[in-house]
Amino acid sequence: MIKRIRFGEPFFTDAVFDDSNVAEGKAAEADDNGIIIKSDGKELIIALDKEDVVYGLGQSLHGINKRGFTYISYNTDDPHHNEDKYSLYGSHNFIIVDRVDGKKTGLFIDYPSKVIYDIGDSDKDVLKITLGEPVYPDDEIEGKTVNYDLYVITAESSEKIINEFRALIGPSYKAPQWAFGFGQSRWGYMSEDDIRRVVKGYKDSDMPLDMVYVDIDYMDDYKVFTLNQENYPDFKSFVSEMKEQGIHLLPNVDPGVKMEEGFDIYDEGKKNDYYCKDKDGEIYPIAVWPGLSALPDFMKPEVRKWYGDKYRFFTDAGVDGFWNDMNEPASFYSPKTLKNALDEVAKVSEKQDSLKLQELWNMIGVVDGMAHNDEDYQSFYHETDRGLIRHDRLHNIYGLNMLKAGSEALDEQLGKGNSLIFSRSSYIGAHRYGGIWTGDNCSFYSHIELIMHQLPGLNMCGFLYVGADTCGFGFDTNEDLAMRFLELSIFTPLCRNHSALGTREQEFYRFKNIDAFRKLLKLRYALIPYLYKSYLDSIENNKLMFTPLGIAYPLDAEARHIEDQLMVGESVMIAPVYQANVTGRHVYLPQDMTCYRVKGVEDYEEENMIKGHHYVKADIDEVLIFVKAK
Ligand code: GLC
Repeated sequence: MIKRIRFGEPFFTDAVFDDSNVAEGKAAEADDNGIIIKSDGKELIIALDKEDVVYGLGQSLHGINKRGFTYISYNTDDPHHNEDKYSLYGSHNFIIVDRVDGKKTGLFIDYPSKVIYDIGDSDKDVLKITLGEPVYPDDEIEGKTVNYDLYVITAESSEKIINEFRALIGPSYKAPQWAFGFGQSRWGYMSEDDIRRVVKGYKDSDMPLDMVYVDIDYMDDYKVFTLNQENYPDFKSFVSEMKEQGIHLLPNVDPGVKMEEGFDIYDEGKKNDYYCKDKDGEIYPIAVWPGLSALPDFMKPEVRKWYGDKYRFFTDAGVDGFWNDMNEPASFYSPKTLKNALDEVAKVSEKQDSLKLQELWNMIGVVDGMAHNDEDYQSFYHETDRGLIRHDRLHNIYGLNMLKAGSEALDEQLGKGNSLIFSRSSYIGAHRYGGIWTGDNCSFYSHIELIMHQLPGLNMCGFLYVGADTCGFGFDTNEDLAMRFLELSIFTPLCRNHSALGTREQEFYRFKNIDAFRKLLKLRYALIPYLYKSYLDSIENNKLMFTPLGIAYPLDAEARHIEDQLMVGESVMIAPVYQANVTGRHVYLPQDMTCYRVKGVEDYEEENMIKGHHYVKADIDEVLIFVKAK
């Protein structure tokens, strides 16, 4: 059963798709479900028992069970996914309190600004949710009211809650089957020839490859929907040449439009009043890759249409796949924050001889604070059907609306179901328009573990076409780490090797044990029929594709606390190895299963295992796949 409790006048976020099964509720009724609502809806408190598990929050950090940490929904471009971070690129305000005594409650907070979840962090037995500033109307700011919808879902199982929630937020985006092929990416492939070399590297090593991602390097001076003519003299022919070799090219598309008079896209947007502006009606510049840029106001339907039409620049050339990036929106600095930083540096440099350490640290703080600065997010506005609304109050749905622009345009230009698009930033609702990837992870073993934690949370919120940067984006990977990463990524819908400029080259053909990587990639391709079928089943039946053991086996007390194994589809369980220099791992079987230690499609050992705890050996080139016994 779903109840909606409305506070104030919520802004339409596009998260909810079908509310025909929703009953309107009152705040006073929330305590039937153990939720205490305080301060006119600004604070929700739920008591937790020792054994209760809290699931959800999409791509956020930490475990499958979210207890013991604080999380903040506020879309953030942060390439350091460390334990001390509260926010990542998406805001996925859905949680399930899975009580051991059988009562399960799902909560969805449909609110496009900041939401803070203290899940047993300050007090281990208390879940406290706090809402940030009010969204609307604009002048009703500090402290008066918050405007949002709280959806309370109750059912006998977490699985049922997910099922009902997913029906509420609507069908997930369906990627074409070719999008389950393997893709190679790197920030730093500069030219057609660089890409030809990568394709040849894979072909010569007999490794399957379906996609090559083209990062911002293809652009002319980082201007959106342009090409560097020197490096891509005949793009259309190049796209055809790649197509003939079975390769889809996927350009990166950012939101920021370089503020350069004479750049046709900038001029057009300015003339038509398509950009976000400050209080005085001036375009508000923020700096991204091209330098000072104007942000399209994607909240306006005509802007989405205009920006979406620009995709023709690529689709006319035969391109059918894209990734949307920097759409939190990221901001490296603005003229305002740059000035503050330079003033601070000037102050320090005047004092060099008498400088106090605290003054130096202050300066470093101000320089650091130039990026993604709250003051900037509070300085520009969106034009909505409810008047001008300050950006920070709608911050979390900016990426959603950018993705929507691209997704709707591609459906129109190429036909529904024929293209691939995924985004970095998102909010619930974006799952209907595309996939997402988990952003700038690092070449760390702990980030293999993190993927396992993110997958079920993302699935709960409808994000099914998902994956992480295989081998790690930041820092240098190494052969063993790359292999362990791939051993998990072969199961995720998006299977892409991606890395940052300046890091070690990590195309799989560069490592010593090419044979092992080839076998793993071919294993991925052999798994595609099962994976794609499970993916479609999850879309059609509003189910998880990656299910925590505690949800798949709700009566098994041990399964509730397994954080490093997942069910994939109906009959498979994975238990990836995510530690360095180990030759196996501990696995808990919630039922009898057959264990396959797989090096390749025709190279595996199998053993029947009984329900319970096992130590299972897994050589560096071996994947552990468990299949339910009949
Ligand atoms: C961002 C993206 C990353 C990309 C880089 C350059 O950091 O997350 O994937 O390679 O920008 O475009």
